[in-house]
Amino acid sequence: MNNIVFPSDFLWGGAIAANQAEGAYLADGKGISTVDVIPHGKNRLPMKLGRIEDISIKPDEYYPSHEAINFYQNYKEDIALLAEMGFKVFRVSIAWARIFPNGDEKTPNQKGIEFYLNVFKECQKYGIEPLVTLCHFDVPIHLVEKYGSWRNRALINLFEKYATTCFKAFKGLVTYWLTFNEINILLHSPFSGAGLVFKAGDNEDQIKYQAAHNQLVASALVTKIAHEIDPNNQIGCMLAGGNFYPATCKPEDVMKSIEKDRENLFFIDIQVRGYYPSYAKRLFEEKNISLHTEPEDFEVLKHTVDFVSFSYYASRCASADMNDKTTSEANVVKSIKNPYITQSEWGWGIDPLGLRITMNTLYDRYQKPLFLVENGLGAIDEIDKNGAINDEYRIDYLRQHIVQMHEAIKDGVILLGFTTWGCIDLVSASTGEMSKRYGFIYVDKDDKGNGTLKRTPKASFYWYKDVIQSNGRSL
Ligand code: BG6
Repeated sequence: MNNIVFPSDFLWGGAIAANQAEGAYLADGKGISTVDVIPHGKNRLPMKLGRIEDISIKPDEYYPSHEAINFYQNYKEDIALLAEMGFKVFRVSIAWARIFPNGDEKTPNQKGIEFYLNVFKECQKYGIEPLVTLCHFDVPIHLVEKYGSWRNRALINLFEKYATTCFKAFKGLVTYWLTFNEINILLHSPFSGAGLVFKAGDNEDQIKYQAAHNQLVASALVTKIAHEIDPNNQIGCMLAGGNFYPATCKPEDVMKSIEKDRENLFFIDIQVRGYYPSYAKRLFEEKNISLHTEPEDFEVLKHTVDFVSFSYYASRCASADMNDKTTSEANVVKSIKNPYITQSEWGWGIDPLGLRITMNTLYDRYQKPLFLVENGLGAIDEIDKNGAINDEYRIDYLRQHIVQMHEAIKDGVILLGFTTWGCIDLVSASTGEMSKRYGFIYVDKDDKGNGTLKRTPKASFYWYKDVIQSNGRSL
């Protein structure tokens, strides 16, 4: 036992996303989403970058989202296991294409609404608070084909309709909402982030920032609507977090790290403050960007979020002369390698103190409650001869991060809760693998789609259960 105690109302839990867990990609009227056309293997990256124009499903490719871990049919068993761990909060996302299969229908798909009603009622049965992301890396594919996805302002009202449908249908069952998962990722992985597909000769920056503007207006608009429908609703933005450290104290490196941080914080600056940051003008001039906006957009943007949620996997590092040769693809946001920290098997940096640094930066900058909605270690798990999975490395990783989370709270940061990423093993967003596991619960499935989908608690399951029960003391 230690002297770590979290606030008594601290929301402990875990997170999954529809496209990485549900499967059942065509069940009960669901439409095809962007993620359903992203294959496992060599065509995955070009597709995520929006560099493949043919976005059809091909018979010779394997698409991990189609079955995923079949949470669609297993949700009762899965939520019962989370309840056994003592979860106070469970972060899920709603698949837009389950509610509006094409995205632009007049009326929603009742079967889709029913599924999420059942999930939220199941959570309620165990006293688990749902934390719901409206858009986690998925856009109905019809909206990409017909409108060019988020580059088109038409998406603002289509998203408004979808979000309003959800706020009304799940009123009383859901209080905590996030509009867009890792909204800044649209700059780094534009097809997953915003359904963007580019043609040769496109000014990609222009298209990305136009899509960003449209998403930011949509996010503010539905924040306003959520508060009108139920004043209890708490709406958060969601950042793929992790500060950029300057590679050295050379002033040019420090300036570069500020610029790289601003790339990501640009979104949250607007969602929290309600207006564009002053540095945007120069950024747009340098990238030759001219946004199409309407005067009312700037009124809508004033509907700011209630809290700031973020994911944290690793800090990042910048130098004035960083380029494609010196940066790594790990962690999606390109960074140069930091020699002072270790890396996971996938080359993702491991920097627990960086979590405290990130939390302090976000809280100092925004003065809004924070919610850490993703953190965890993607690792290969082995089943021993007794059928047990002793994932000590995961326990160690999480322990170190939770200790730093607690340090940040002692620094004065307000943190509403913590949902570990992939509390049940699920499909990796970056690689499409099952073998990159984050869970407390093992799911029997391999990278090619073979397996029984049987669920087995790992050692970390019992460890996290104790952490929750003791509110951090047993760490
Ligand atoms: C975040 C995403 O970027 O990181 C998740 O919100 C994702 O969807 C998670 O799964 C971990 O990344 P990966 O690539 O290891 O699955």
